[in-house]
Amino acid sequence: MGVDIFSKCIDFCAAADLKKTGFYPYFHKVESEQGPEVVINGEKKVVVCSNNYLGLANHPKVIEASVAATKRYGTSCTGSRFLNGTNDLHEKVEEKFAKFVGKENAILFTTGHHSNLGALSCLVGKNEVFITDKLVHASIIDGCRLSFGEMVRFRHNDMVDLERQLIKYQDKAMLIVVDGIFSMEGDIANFPEISKLAKKYGARVFIDEAHSLGVIGENGRGIGEYFNMEEDEDILMATASKSLASIGGFIASKAEVIDYIKHNARSMIFTASLPPSCVGAIDAALDLVVSEPERRINLMKTANKMKKAFESMGYNTNHSQSPIVPLTVGSDLVAFKMWRVLFDEGVFASPVVTPAVPEGQSIMRTSYMATHSDSHLNFILEKFKKVGKQFGVIA
Ligand SMILES: Cc1ncc(COP(=O)(O)O)c(C=O)c1O
Repeated sequence: MGVDIFSKCIDFCAAADLKKTGFYPYFHKVESEQGPEVVINGEKKVVVCSNNYLGLANHPKVIEASVAATKRYGTSCTGSRFLNGTNDLHEKVEEKFAKFVGKENAILFTTGHHSNLGALSCLVGKNEVFITDKLVHASIIDGCRLSFGEMVRFRHNDMVDLERQLIKYQDKAMLIVVDGIFSMEGDIANFPEISKLAKKYGARVFIDEAHSLGVIGENGRGIGEYFNMEEDEDILMATASKSLASIGGFIASKAEVIDYIKHNARSMIFTASLPPSCVGAIDAALDLVVSEPERRINLMKTANKMKKAFESMGYNTNHSQSPIVPLTVGSDLVAFKMWRVLFDEGVFASPVVTPAVPEGQSIMRTSYMATHSDSHLNFILEKFKKVGKQFGVIA
């Protein structure tokens, strides 16, 4: 008889061991809406780990649109987009999104993760190649793994290494895949150089704008707008679970590319469509991204203020250029301990540890919302100063 398939589960003790120490930071139950403050175990915590960048997840207009969509269409579409699960609201939001980002067409998946799985796995086939930045999001890696194509990676934002890979694979069809804003590092892809190299070697460019849509570019259209290069972004992916205050994922591109993905992406065809409540929320959030630009301006002011303040305390914020400001703290254990003390002091933060980061380079990933007040921000800074000193991360 072979080994019991469950033996790995029985042997798995990392989480239980961490729970025994009191430093387990995961799966905490939020008992309130997701704003700059949340309630956990009956206590208020100031949040510094949310992706609710524009603060729209509890905006009255977004809630109203979500409720109205539920009342009109019910709670579920009970099937795949491909079959019975598409309604007119899905199509309205796809058209609105495509128009917003200046692409011919867009398609709405059930999550951002599904969009990367579905689009990437069907776009790159046998004898074709993904060339991805080493630090792309896990959902991109999963999409590449599901494809029959080959995946090669270049060093993070290193254009010399990218060109080396493009030269090596130039005889094959190639898709360069990067995050617009990198989800842990908070830095921005070097799109001007990527685009130049893509054209030189005949590759296409796919940009995951999960953290950049609504956030950067004068109108919040993301990386393409930020660099004034929207035409050069062959495929744009975005999620609705961050600035758009909902859940769902978009892929936008030329009409024929979207048509191909629509009929070949297994994560669209073989899963149920996004429920009306979520689509209604996206619809209203997209309007607010356009009509309330002050949110984006406020958000970036906050991010810059926090980055400067952390640096003046002695924290290493790496190359952050966005509302994601990672603070390098050292070992996994230091990150877990800092998380615990911050939590007890009233700050809800996120430790990011190995294997998500290299050994010894764990971070506290801080991220900001347009709705953080000065008093929230000062509270966060005061607590990080105290805790950073306590654990010897800053002097
Ligand atoms: C860069 C990036 N891409 C894709 C996703 C997946 O999006 P979703 O969580 O909406 O499925 C995330 C989510 O964290 C992300 O950070």
